[in-house]
Amino acid sequence: MSVHIGGQPGDIAERVLLPGDPMRAKWIAENFLQDAKCYTQVRGMLGFTGTYQGIRVSVQGSGMGMPSASIYTHELINEYGVKSLIRIGSCGALAMDLQLGDVIAAIGSATDSNMNRSRFDGLIDYAPVANFELLRTAVEVAERQGTSLRVGPILAADAFYTDRPDLYDSLADYGVLAVEMESAAIYTIAARYGAKALTILTVSDHIKTGEKMDSAQREQGFGDMVRIGLETAIA
Ligand code: ADE
Repeated sequence: MSVHIGGQPGDIAERVLLPGDPMRAKWIAENFLQDAKCYTQVRGMLGFTGTYQGIRVSVQGSGMGMPSASIYTHELINEYGVKSLIRIGSCGALAMDLQLGDVIAAIGSATDSNMNRSRFDGLIDYAPVANFELLRTAVEVAERQGTSLRVGPILAADAFYTDRPDLYDSLADYGVLAVEMESAAIYTIAARYGAKALTILTVSDHIKTGEKMDSAQREQGFGDMVRIGLETAIA
């Protein structure tokens, strides 16, 4: 086992879906995978491996925020040989033409996190980006499934609650679609250790209008996103 994951070597598939919420990992394992087995419960951060259309896939909770997501991304790649990681999660929309339930693929991730600044000694603003192959596959999968998938840049924020909504307005002016809290770290660490990464998100709330999804909308919207994630993972 690694420091934060209880699985033995070989317990985790090369293709992993990364929801932030461990209970969502359980829900995906129970509703989308065959023969899913739980390989870790360390700190309640559940991980499962099963098959999807006959191909081994794992689904691992990554927690909230970049410090937590960094730990799981690092250990999955370096201790368990994971080759491709697809974050699936929720986001708050900034773009006025996004609706609750819309699904986004993050082509790149701006961030206010200091993690990459310290990585490059404050001298370079590294640009965390999605793996092109995974992104292209996700677009093709969504087209086949008839699910509309909006591709664009997002913000990975350190804080869920902000005192600077004006900065969100500026980002929207620059075409940033939405805010979440993990993608920049996942993209950066995957790039650093030679793995592929993509982030797919469902709009759960709209930052400008204040609208929020109810639970029925969440289930439907998240189902579409999970199907795109799984089909992309096994392609
Ligand atoms: N995830 C879902 N909604 C969010 C928001 N408004 N800000 C940051 N992360 C989110």
